[in-house]
Amino acid sequence: MRVLVTGGAGYVGSVSVERLVQAGHHVVVLDSLVTGHAAAVAEGARLVTDSLREREAVERLLRDERIDAVLHCAARSLVGQSVAEPALYYAENVAGGVGLLDAMLAAGVRRIVFSSTAAVYGAPDRVPIPEAAPLDPINPYGETKRAFEGALRWYGAAYGLRSVALRYFNVAGASALNGEQHEPETHLIPNVLAAALGRRSLTVFGTDYPTPDGTCIRDYIHVEDLADAHLAALELTGRVDAAGGLTACNLGSGSGFSVLEVIRAAEAVVGRAIPCAVGPRRPGDPPALVASNERARDLLGWTPRRGTLPEMIGSAWRWLEAHPEGYAG
Ligand code: UFG
Repeated sequence: MRVLVTGGAGYVGSVSVERLVQAGHHVVVLDSLVTGHAAAVAEGARLVTDSLREREAVERLLRDERIDAVLHCAARSLVGQSVAEPALYYAENVAGGVGLLDAMLAAGVRRIVFSSTAAVYGAPDRVPIPEAAPLDPINPYGETKRAFEGALRWYGAAYGLRSVALRYFNVAGASALNGEQHEPETHLIPNVLAAALGRRSLTVFGTDYPTPDGTCIRDYIHVEDLADAHLAALELTGRVDAAGGLTACNLGSGSGFSVLEVIRAAEAVVGRAIPCAVGPRRPGDPPALVASNERARDLLGWTPRRGTLPEMIGSAWRWLEAHPEGYAG
């Protein structure tokens, strides 16, 4: 396959690029490098530094590279920032994405895999969450991802676009080459490991949730397992019926860990106690988010293979030790 990966210099995108190159596919990365890192793009993939919003340039790239399918990872993805600056999220996640679809149609490319999120479900009252659960996002980040899923559905019906939206739960871990480096970093595991290194203080956001230990439960999924699912989903877009349409698939392990369980597992990985304080709840955090992953198993033939906390946190820790200054080092 000849694949265009938007956002291929970001955390999830870069590990997926590694996987595609390894499987022998021709990979072109389109990334503005606003949040991505050129050094994250695997050898063997071509990096084009441009914005998705340059519609004509994107169309030309799709044609020149004779692209068969697109993996669309490029997006803004910070929940708090999306509340403060929804305009940015609508411009990039919705308008930018629709511009990509229009460029694809003009260039005759009709297969796309989209990085969606569990945030499309909002704060569901029951877990595990099946794909048929109501979509009710509680922030602009989730809302813009839902909006783009809607575009995929209607473009499928009208123009024969074949798409798979992968709804990620909590992505964690690292490959040997690429790991998580966000600015600012809001995610639990990188914050716990930064605290272990004495680089920041750690706060547990709320210990009064209706869960066994009072802290929030999340479904963590190794970024390399996610990369495997991307490859399977790209292959699926080549198989689904010619009439087109959207398939949404949760990507999670089907079970969850609490914030305190993550901290305890990280202490075992780093071999020392990690200081942490208890703070109030973070606004907008649902008590528990756990995926039902039956559809991913059935449709993609995918099961998470690196799903234990020691594997996920251990790989993130090894990446940090190998890259003490991150991509700058
Ligand atoms: N947490 C802390 N301290 C921290 C960071 C996080 O206690 O320093 C807690 C959070 O309150 C939450 C859990 O750890 O209970 C996980 O938080 P993350 O920020 O790592 O992840 P989220 O579950 O908030 O977010 C994930 C994805 C988002 C997506 C969201 C869907 O990273 O992109 O799920 O709800 F929008």
